[in-house]
Amino acid sequence: MSIDIRFTALFSWMVFMTINPAAAHNPLPHFDDWPVIQSAVPKDPTIESEIENILNQMTLAEKVGQMIQPDLREVTPAEAEEFKLGSILNGGGAWPSDNKYSSAMDWAKESDKFYEALERAYSGRGFKVPFAWATDAVHGHNNVFKSTLFPHNIGLGAANNSDLIEKIGEATALEIAATGLDWTFAPTVAVPRDYRWGRVYEGYSEDPEITYTYASRMVKGLQGDLSQGLADDRVISTIKHWLGDGGTIDGVDRGENHYSEYELLNIHAPGYISALAAGAQVVMTSFNSWHNEKNYNVLGVDGYNSKLHGSRYIVNDILKDKLGFDGVVVTDWNGHSEISGCTSGNCPQAVLAGNDIFMVTARSDWKAFYYNVIAQVETGIIPMERIDDAVTRILRVKMRAGLWDKPKASQRKYAGNNDILGQEAHRALARQAVRESLVLLKNSSNVLPLRKDSSFLVTGSGANDIQKQTGGWSLTWQGDENTIEKDFPGASTVLSAFKDAVGSEKIFTDVEKAPGDAIAVLVFGEDPYAEMMGDIKRSKTLEYSTLKRTYLKDLELLRDLKARGFKIVSVFFSGRPLYVNEEISLSDAFVAAWLPGTEAGGITDVLFSEQGLDFTGRLSFSWPNTKCGTTINRIAEHIPNYKVPSVEQDPLGEDAPLFPYGYGLSYDLSASNTLEINPNTITLDSRDYGCGITKNNSLATESLELFGANSDPDFELLMSGMANDWQGVKVSKGTKSSLSSVDTYPIDYKHQQDAVRIEFNGSSPAQVYVGVIGGETFDARSYLNAKGYLEIDLRVDRELPEKIALAMHCQWPCLGEVNLTSYLIDFADLINEWQTVSIPLKDFEDTGMDFSNVSAPLLIYSDQALVLSIGRVAFVPEG
Ligand code: BGC
Ligand code: BGC
Repeated sequence: MSIDIRFTALFSWMVFMTINPAAAHNPLPHFDDWPVIQSAVPKDPTIESEIENILNQMTLAEKVGQMIQPDLREVTPAEAEEFKLGSILNGGGAWPSDNKYSSAMDWAKESDKFYEALERAYSGRGFKVPFAWATDAVHGHNNVFKSTLFPHNIGLGAANNSDLIEKIGEATALEIAATGLDWTFAPTVAVPRDYRWGRVYEGYSEDPEITYTYASRMVKGLQGDLSQGLADDRVISTIKHWLGDGGTIDGVDRGENHYSEYELLNIHAPGYISALAAGAQVVMTSFNSWHNEKNYNVLGVDGYNSKLHGSRYIVNDILKDKLGFDGVVVTDWNGHSEISGCTSGNCPQAVLAGNDIFMVTARSDWKAFYYNVIAQVETGIIPMERIDDAVTRILRVKMRAGLWDKPKASQRKYAGNNDILGQEAHRALARQAVRESLVLLKNSSNVLPLRKDSSFLVTGSGANDIQKQTGGWSLTWQGDENTIEKDFPGASTVLSAFKDAVGSEKIFTDVEKAPGDAIAVLVFGEDPYAEMMGDIKRSKTLEYSTLKRTYLKDLELLRDLKARGFKIVSVFFSGRPLYVNEEISLSDAFVAAWLPGTEAGGITDVLFSEQGLDFTGRLSFSWPNTKCGTTINRIAEHIPNYKVPSVEQDPLGEDAPLFPYGYGLSYDLSASNTLEINPNTITLDSRDYGCGITKNNSLATESLELFGANSDPDFELLMSGMANDWQGVKVSKGTKSSLSSVDTYPIDYKHQQDAVRIEFNGSSPAQVYVGVIGGETFDARSYLNAKGYLEIDLRVDRELPEKIALAMHCQWPCLGEVNLTSYLIDFADLINEWQTVSIPLKDFEDTGMDFSNVSAPLLIYSDQALVLSIGRVAFVPEG
C-alpha cells in the first residue's frame, strides 16, 4: 500500500461537529480520595436483625453452601439440595435441558426445581434460605430465545440518552422476570481505553462521564426503587468488573492494569460510584491484575501485581471499607484460579480478600472448593468472621430482593409468560435505541437522507448477517452458531429492513443486476466475539481489512463499487472504533452502527429520515486515524491538570483521532452548537506490521534447521489430537510414540534415527508439528523478507491423498495452510522415495500466516489415514 495518498477531491466537504447538549447535564465530579457512598438502599433494621437471627442458626456447611455458585450445566437440583447451594448462574450459551429454544415457562420450571430443592434442604430447620439464579442479561435478556436484543453498550454510549438507558433496564428486567430468574450480571461499567480489548463493546464509553451518568440509571431501570422492596418486574443488578478491566496494557483481556490509584479512581471507578449510590447490590470482581505496591496478594505470593480476585486492598479495603458497600461481591468465572497458588477448587486467598460468592463453575471444582473452605475455616486459615461477613451480605441482598416471600418462579406474576419476551413495545424501544446509537461520520454531496424512489444495491458481508449485528453474548457466549431463521425469529437485518422500507422490487443484492443509478449500501463489519477471543493480537493492527482474511473482501467490494461509479453508503458494524480510512474515503456516506442487535429497522428509519428523523448519535470513543492509534482517549476533563497516563497515547499527538470523542454529523446542521473541523484530506497509514511488534527489515542469510539431524535446539517435534484435547505431547526420537489416532516411529534417513515415520489412523483428527520449546513463539520475518522457503525432505509411504493439510501456526487460531499434495508434482513415481519439497513462505503468508509470531513452523494435520516420513525441515532463504 502506498503512503500518504491524499483524498482531497473526495473530501471537499465541510464537516461540522455537534456537541450533544445532553452530555453537559450530569457533570462528573473529580475525586481526591475514595468517597463514602450513601446508597439509595439504606440498611433496614428489621432486615438486619432477621439476618442475624438466621445466621446464628446456620451451620458452617450451610454458610459455605451460600457462597458457592455453579454453572447450570454443572449442577443438578439434587446436588443443590445436598450442598444447600445459595445460587447458580447460567453462563453464556447455557439453557435449561441444553435447549436453546427453551420458552419462558421452560426457564421458570427449571428454576422451580432448584427452588423446591432448597425448600426441601431447609425443611425441618425452622428457617430457610432461598435460592437465587443469575444470568448475563447484558444487552437485553440475551441468553434467552425470542428475547429483545438491544444494542451493545458501545452503541448506547453513542446515544447519550440516560432516560433511554433506564427504560432499557426496565424492559430487560421484565424479560428476565418472565423467565423467573432473579438477578443479572449487568451493567458493565468498564471504561475501555485500548481498542484492542475484546470487550470494548461492553463498555458505554472510553471516558467515565457517560458511564457515570448511565450506571445509576441502568441500576434503577433494572432494580426499580429497591428501598421499597423488589417489584415483580425487577431484578437485582451487578456492576462489573471491579476494577480497571478496561485499562489493561495493550487491551489484553484479563491482563495487567498499570494505572495509578488516582487514575483508577477517576477514570475506571466513576461508574461504580454512581451505581452504588443508586443502590446496586452486587459487584463482580475482575480477572485483571493491578500493578501497585498496595495490591498485595493476601498470602503474599504475587508481590504487587496480583490478580484482583486475591486483592484484599481492592476488594475489601476500598470497596467494602472505604466506599461502604454492604452488598455482595461475586467472583468472575473461576477468576480465583488465576491467583498464584490457587486452583479452581482451592483458593483461601480469594475468600480472605473479601469475595463473598464464588462462581466456581465446574462440578468437580465447586465441590472441592466447598470442602476446602469448610476445612480452612476449621483449621483457622479462614476466620469465621470472614464467612459470617460473606453470608450476612448474601442474606441481606436476598432479603432486599424479597426472596423469602416470593413463590417459586412459575407462580410469580410474570414468569412463564412467553409473550413478554421480544414483545412489540420492547422491540420498538430497541429500535429507538438503534436509531439513537448511529453515528454519521461522513455525508458528502448529501447522499443521505435516502429517497424512497431510488433503487438500492444492498451488499457486503453484514447486509444479511444477524451474527455481525448482534455480536457476542447473543444466545451463545461468542454470539456465533446462530441464524436469523432459527434463532432470531422476528428480527430484521439491514437487507430485510430495506425491503420493508421501499419494497423488494427496488432492492438488488447482485451488483451485475442492479441498475446503474442504484445507490449502493455496503453493510460490513466484524464477526461476533466475546472476551479474550475478541482481543486484537500483537501481530495485528486496528485496520479492519487485515483483522481477518474474509474482511478484506468488503474493501475489495467497495473498491469495485467505486470503480463502477456507484454512490456508496457504508454501514459499519463493529465492537470498537477501527481504522477504516480507505473505506471512509471510498464511501459517500459512512455510518458507525456498532452492534445494534435484532432491530435493524432503526438503521433504515434514520437513513430514510422517516418522519424527519435525524442522526443524533455522537462518538463515545475517539475514532482512530492511524492503525495503531489504540489508546487515543479523550483528555479527562473532570480531572484538574490531567496528564495522559504513561500507558496511553497523547490524543493531541501524532496518533490524534480522525474523529474526536463527541463527533457526529446530523442532517440538520443548525440543530446544535457546531464546531468546525475540516479533515479535507484523509491519509492512509502505510504500517504493515502489528501494533505490538517492531518492524523487521532484516534479511536472513542462513538456513534455520527446524527438524532433523542438525536441528536447532529451540525446536521440538510434538503431536496432539482431538482425543487428548489437543495437548502437545513430545515425539520421542528413540522409540515409538502414540496417541489414539497417530503413532510415530524413529527411522534412519541420512543418519541413525534422524527421521520420523508418522502414521495417522484416521480415527479422529490429529496433528504432528514442530513447536518452539516452552510454547514460545519466534520472529521469522527475516526469512519471509529473504523470499525464503520451507524445505522438507519427505517420503510418502502409501498412496497419496488428494489433500495433505500442511500448516504453520502463529498461535492458533492464527495460521497459514497449504495443500502439500499440490507441491508434489510427478509424485506417482516417487512412492517410497525421499524427495525435497520447497514451498515459498509467501504461500503461507497469503493464507493467513503471521511470520512475526511463529509458534509452529510446520504442522501436518489429518483426520484420515495417512502415512509419511519426514527427514529434514528448514527455513531456507532464497538463492
Ligand atoms: C465474564 C463475566 C460473566 C461471567 C458469567 C465471565 O467470563 O467475564 O462478565 O458475567 O463470565 O458468564
Ligand atoms: C461460559 C461463559 C463464560 C466463559 C468464561 C463459557 O463457557 O458459557 O459464560 O463467560 O466460559 O471463560
